[in-house]
Amino acid sequence: MATQRTFSIIKPDATRRNLTGAINAKIEAAGLRIVGQKRIHMSKAQAEAFYAVHAERPFYNDLVSFMISGPVVVQVLEGENAVAAYRQVMGATNPADADAGTIRKEFAESIEANSVHGSNSDENAVIEIGHFFTEEEIVG
Ligand code: CMP
Repeated sequence: MATQRTFSIIKPDATRRNLTGAINAKIEAAGLRIVGQKRIHMSKAQAEAFYAVHAERPFYNDLVSFMISGPVVVQVLEGENAVAAYRQVMGATNPADADAGTIRKEFAESIEANSVHGSNSDENAVIEIGHFFTEEEIVG
């Protein structure tokens, strides 16, 4: 399987509880390399644009408010089968459904405050990385 990239966000519930290192330890233990990384406070416009695909969902406004409620860490991850590998490490969107040992099972507070985001396809990974990184900012 070829090396792939995926996009990750460590969300405000996790940065607030000082969990960035603990989450990245799980990411690296899964064989993924962090090849791009920034700690930012998203603007409302950035959060709205990033989650535009969910604009019609009932949770959209709350999701945007949550994502701008504190700092986040946006990251590019690289590795074999990176999209699927990271989704496995994250666990199910709802922590109640997540497998033991996953990031969301161990750290997430709720389906909204679920500690991390990860791309769901190669195509979306490219789009999502482009929201926050130039190619020069990704160093393998
Ligand atoms: P994420 O992977 O960042 O993509 C969209 C986010 O919406 C999702 O993780 C959840 O944190 C959030 N969300 C809030 N409520 C819901 C819901 N009812 N169903 C799915 N996602 C939700």
